[in-house]
Amino acid sequence: MFAVHLLAFYFTKLKEDQIKKVDRFLYHMRLSDETLLDIMARFQAEMQKGLGKDTNPTASVKMLPTFVRAIPDGSENGEFLSLDLGGSKFRVLKVQVSEEGKRNVQMESQFYPTPNEIIRGNGTELFEYVADCLADFMKTKELTQKKLPLGLTFSFPCKQTKLEEGILLSWTKKFKARGVLGTDVVSSLTNAMKRHQQDLDVDILALVNDTVGTMMTCAYDDPYCEVGVIIGTGTNACYMEDMSNIDLVEGDEGRMCINTEWGAFGDDGALEDIRTEFDRELDLGSLNPGKQLFEKMISGLYLGELVRLILLKMAKAGLLFGGEKSSALHIKGKIETRHVAAMERYKEGLANTREILTDLGLEPSDADCIAVQHVCTIVSFRSANLCAAALAAILTRLRENKKLVRLRTTVGMDGTLYKIHPQYPKRLHKVVRKLVPNCDVRFLLSESGSTKGAAMVTAVASRVQAQRKQIDKVLALFRLTQEQLVGVRNKMRVEFEYGLKKDTHPRATVKMLPTYVCGMPDGTEKGKFLALDLGGTNFRVLLVKIRSGRRSVRMYNKIFAIPLEIMQGTGEELFDHIVQCIADFLDYMGLKGAQLPLGFTFSFPCRQASIDKGTLIEWTKGFKATDCEGEDVVDMLREAIKRRNEFDLDIVAVVNDTVGTMMTCGYEDSNCEVGLIAGTGSNMCYMEEMRNIELVEGDEGKMCINTEWGGFGDNGCLDDIQTQYDKEVDEGSLNPGKQRYEKMTSGMYLGEIVRQILIDLTKQGLLFRGHISERLQTRGIFETKFLSQIESDRLALLQVRRILQQLGLDSTCEDSIVVKEVCGAVSRRAAQLYGAGLAAIVEKRREDQGLEHVRITVGVDGTLYKLHPHFSRILRETVKELAPQCDVMFMLSEDGSGKGAALITAVAKRLQQAQREH
Ligand code: BG6
Ligand code: BG6
Ligand code: GLC
Ligand code: GLC
Repeated sequence: MFAVHLLAFYFTKLKEDQIKKVDRFLYHMRLSDETLLDIMARFQAEMQKGLGKDTNPTASVKMLPTFVRAIPDGSENGEFLSLDLGGSKFRVLKVQVSEEGKRNVQMESQFYPTPNEIIRGNGTELFEYVADCLADFMKTKELTQKKLPLGLTFSFPCKQTKLEEGILLSWTKKFKARGVLGTDVVSSLTNAMKRHQQDLDVDILALVNDTVGTMMTCAYDDPYCEVGVIIGTGTNACYMEDMSNIDLVEGDEGRMCINTEWGAFGDDGALEDIRTEFDRELDLGSLNPGKQLFEKMISGLYLGELVRLILLKMAKAGLLFGGEKSSALHIKGKIETRHVAAMERYKEGLANTREILTDLGLEPSDADCIAVQHVCTIVSFRSANLCAAALAAILTRLRENKKLVRLRTTVGMDGTLYKIHPQYPKRLHKVVRKLVPNCDVRFLLSESGSTKGAAMVTAVASRVQAQRKQIDKVLALFRLTQEQLVGVRNKMRVEFEYGLKKDTHPRATVKMLPTYVCGMPDGTEKGKFLALDLGGTNFRVLLVKIRSGRRSVRMYNKIFAIPLEIMQGTGEELFDHIVQCIADFLDYMGLKGAQLPLGFTFSFPCRQASIDKGTLIEWTKGFKATDCEGEDVVDMLREAIKRRNEFDLDIVAVVNDTVGTMMTCGYEDSNCEVGLIAGTGSNMCYMEEMRNIELVEGDEGKMCINTEWGGFGDNGCLDDIQTQYDKEVDEGSLNPGKQRYEKMTSGMYLGEIVRQILIDLTKQGLLFRGHISERLQTRGIFETKFLSQIESDRLALLQVRRILQQLGLDSTCEDSIVVKEVCGAVSRRAAQLYGAGLAAIVEKRREDQGLEHVRITVGVDGTLYKLHPHFSRILRETVKELAPQCDVMFMLSEDGSGKGAALITAVAKRLQQAQREH
């Protein structure tokens, strides 16, 4: 009895002594609670640094956005392939996620080896090997006939700008294949799969880190799971961060999973105070010295080695094995994590330790075994402590993001060290709970690895891909081929001839109206003129003072509103309103009673028999006043002035806005022979040889033709490129069946086309969560200026979203991207169609003059041209492509067409006087 007590005493004493000895030796490895709190605070700061746009480039903890935005909601389904590369084992899997929302997942998998010569060889060979394994799997599982989406779990730090891409930032752990750094892993694997074209029909839809896969796997079973931690070969964690805190990704609603890559914590020196000589030695002997310093203190690939280095040093110092060192103890990697785990087992631990040490060629005493076991404990405890500190920082961040006093959450866990080490999980959990007492944490082990989660991500990606295809299909309708554009150009050219010829003119849809403007201003014009500018976005009354000789013009103008009920009321009301505005303006300018010559820019198709007569053929754009069509608008204006009986005006000229614009620009550049409006409406005028104008007598000189090309297509010749959306816009307009080209190109209609597309996409469930709001059903919400703003390159997504929200559209960032694309497709087609039309006219002018090459200036005006960020460029490019022999210069009319109208009036006045004098 006494002997037993004595023995027990002896043993306790022995143990105490050994433990004290080791504790003393490894004093630096034992971290106090204060130190852990300090490390936790440091990691919090690191996370912040990694998330900030300016600080990220120098941050060692990279906080990589993963483009995984939500945890599984149970609606995922389908059959997927999965690869799991980067942990201790490489696996290929087939995952079947159940339909009917039953949360049922079936997996079939196969392990493949990863020999060092492959994972540290040539990158191309690595991916070819992976593709070979996949092909083999497909064959064995008889899957070769199927086209399956694939999710790739790739457990290395990758920079992602979308889910299906990952630029490798660095190799970690055991991998070091050449030529892969800085390249996209997904495309490399896709390329490698091409060699198996017959057997492999696979689309890689998602690349996920193993932490993300783990989090998603666990979240499938526990929706509270919002963190994923790996403590395996390597160590790392991911968690759901608020989008508003992620500077590197546009958008601020919802959350996105961040792969922290915490393994690199300390790479900038932040942990030097706690690193020991053993950590430094281990690092020097690793594949990536100076890198992943936190990981090297924690993860499975390194723990055994740390123990070995410590034992070696202790033996050298005579503290172990009687100073004896076996040769095996000198060999790198001889002690593995599984050994550490075995030595720390409760009951068999000591026996295991003896066996392991003996296998290393040592002859350990009881004391040695106790000491070695304690070394293991200190090393693995430090590992768990460090993990706990970093995890506590993440949990605190989550709690603060949610502004909660207490956080209830679940952490998904995986990794061999965590799974096989007998004490590790308990220690980790305990320390975490101590460090963050205000978090109720559930630790959930991912039994099925990270693939189930990867399959969830792939399922969502495949749904998004299918939706993307639907959106692309719609956008493709607006993409015109070169051939189609040439077709449009040629048809327009035919229509020009039709309009000019006497026989065909009555049936022509492009009316080619003679304007009786026969020359450009010559600089001798002078005097004071009034001008009206009606038909664009704004109605203006102007006073224009032209000084002769100096080509200088002074203008005073006032914008007046024309209420909708007047635009669409009676003709008398409209003209009375115009006269009212003139009266106000004269009053405002102190010109009451002055009898000035007036030029009337009237931007609608008018048949003219002279410069001061214009019969409105039909209203276009937003006007629909009754009793005007078929009437002379000059007469109507005169009568309205008479009705008012306050002042008299000498109406000298009525001009289309295209003509006014051409004149405004022609005053500065005599090469300007074309006037173009890309505004509310769409139209073009140009100087034509008199001999080609069959409707007007005489063959000498030139006359300006107002083409009214807006009516192009009204005979059905554009039906092949018209979309259902164009038809809808046409049907909802004031003039169905009319002005079809205008309706595909001008500001008043582009927004409407966009709106129709958005309604359709929403109906298909591809936008605005499938909800068609009242706003979206409101005609005219997308004015040209909004389109222009939305498409501006300088605008961040958030600003686009704000514009949409101002328009009353409750749009997510995702929605905003789609809306922007839709706007882009519609405005691009418009600019190209304009280009095709313009190419037709400049080519005609070139041919008519019998020239090989021609230089033409086009005077342009209109809000679409002026405000839209890309319109003018695409227009220019298209003209260049479709009329390569013409040098077309575009000149923006800064002063509007009022100036041109005044100049035309001045010329007409001069001619009138000359006639009278004769
Ligand atoms: C596995 C996961 O269960 O754990 C892998 O499926 C992950 O994706 C691995 O990389 C991590 O642990 P270890 O110990 O294999 O590196
Ligand atoms: C103005 C001209 O600058 O542009 C008008 O003065 C013309 O005559 C108008 O109608 C066209 O652009 P929008 O965009 O106002 O229709
Ligand atoms: C390494 C990798 C990281 C991975 C971790 C666990 O730290 O860099 O991406 O998640 O190992 O496998
Ligand atoms: C409409 C009008 C046309 C005008 C154009 C631009 O197409 O019919 O006359 O030039 O709009 O304002």
